[in-house]
Amino acid sequence: MKVFVIGSGGREHALVWALRRSPQVKEIFSATSNAGIRQQTTSAAVAAADVRALADFAAQEKMDLVVVGPEQPLVDGLVDLLTARGIAAFGPVQAAAQLEGSKVFAKEFMARHKIPTARYVMADTAEDALRAISDGSFQFPLVVKAEGLAAGKGVIIAADETEARQAVQDLMVERKLGAAGNRLVLEECLTGRELSYLVFSDGKDYAAMPVAQDHKRAYDGDRGPNTGGMGAFSTPGLLDAALEAQIQRDIVEPTLAATRAEGFPFRGVLYVGLMLTPNGPQVLEYNVRFGDPETQAIVRRLDSDFAELALAVARGELSQARPQWSSDATTCIVLASAGYPGSYPTGKVITGLHEAEQLNDVVVFHAGTKLNATGEVETAGGRVLGVTARAATLADATAQAYQAVSRIHFEGQQFRQDIGKK
Ligand SMILES: Nc1ncnc2c1ncn2[C@@H]1O[C@H](COP(=O)(O)OP(=O)(O)OP(=O)(O)O)[C@@H](O)[C@H]1O
Ligand SMILES: [Mg+2]
Repeated sequence: MKVFVIGSGGREHALVWALRRSPQVKEIFSATSNAGIRQQTTSAAVAAADVRALADFAAQEKMDLVVVGPEQPLVDGLVDLLTARGIAAFGPVQAAAQLEGSKVFAKEFMARHKIPTARYVMADTAEDALRAISDGSFQFPLVVKAEGLAAGKGVIIAADETEARQAVQDLMVERKLGAAGNRLVLEECLTGRELSYLVFSDGKDYAAMPVAQDHKRAYDGDRGPNTGGMGAFSTPGLLDAALEAQIQRDIVEPTLAATRAEGFPFRGVLYVGLMLTPNGPQVLEYNVRFGDPETQAIVRRLDSDFAELALAVARGELSQARPQWSSDATTCIVLASAGYPGSYPTGKVITGLHEAEQLNDVVVFHAGTKLNATGEVETAGGRVLGVTARAATLADATAQAYQAVSRIHFEGQQFRQDIGKK
């Protein structure tokens, strides 16, 4: 099998790693300078942001499968272009990707299909938004969301009316996130525990993934600014069976059925962001792809063949390739550049990568790295590495991952000390 992996971060390195374990995969292509991916794939000389060029490259190279990691190419219609060229693609078509690409679309979809979610109004002008803020239809805190993709920066939890008006000013008047703020969703603030629930879907059947716990804040004890994610762990028992059955029955199955009813059967990874409220699970958001760095922890628990699974998802044959998950635990610790999630330097040489991977069941995934002119691996992003370990217990996986981290060094590296220790 020839496989083309789209994307350039730690999530995509984890997918490359999983694909390489398949005896069916002969060659993997990628269009990124990520050093970890670069060392394990064939370089595709194509502009990574141009979906038409990516689809043409896949056709020209006669790929057997294209695995799409990030949301942007999905929202840009890459899977539609691949399908038109007869190439199997792991990921949803553009119409289904709107579940993530437009928060207005997602809310209206949930309303049409009575899928539990926070009460909301949509605003397409600043006047409408300000009216909804002050007319008493919502209490505070109030959640203000930019409609479009905003790399995690488009959601503001406004404590009072002043903050809510400021959010409208920033998103809609000053357009601080560009076109993502063309329309807004204002919604009630839900309370409870958050949970991400992910499934593979082939348009007919679905298969659940194990739950991973992420860590969004920069510092220990869940303090400091929000980040893309500073670590994750996965171990059996994170989700109680009755609650899981409720999530499947009340949310996942109605969502997938609704995608079929609306003519875009969902294929790929459906990621449901949930709030477990006193009134049951409610949808905070949909994503249409794997999370990062949860994927790094989750793929390390996959005991079956990922290439076979991804192809089955793409072809609508999931019933013939059910994933098998290990009962082992996995931990992923993110090493980030000094200053992340604010501004940070790049070009710091990384040492100890090989030494870290000498430890049992340790795999280091690259997120923001590149090879320099002398062939050394150096930092090239905010999140730099995802150091993962797998062991029979969470305590052992976590200890092993931290042992591996202690062997790696680059100037200014920062990481949380409390991943997997709660
Ligand atoms: N209605 C709500 N009530 C309470 N908290 C909320 C609500 N909506 C969103 N949040 C909080 O804001 C976070 C981000 O919201 P959401 O998932 O909609 O945005 P996003 O930018 O798409 O996130 P991601 O980058 O994870 O895809 C949620 O994880 C949750 O903590
Ligand atoms: Mg999202």
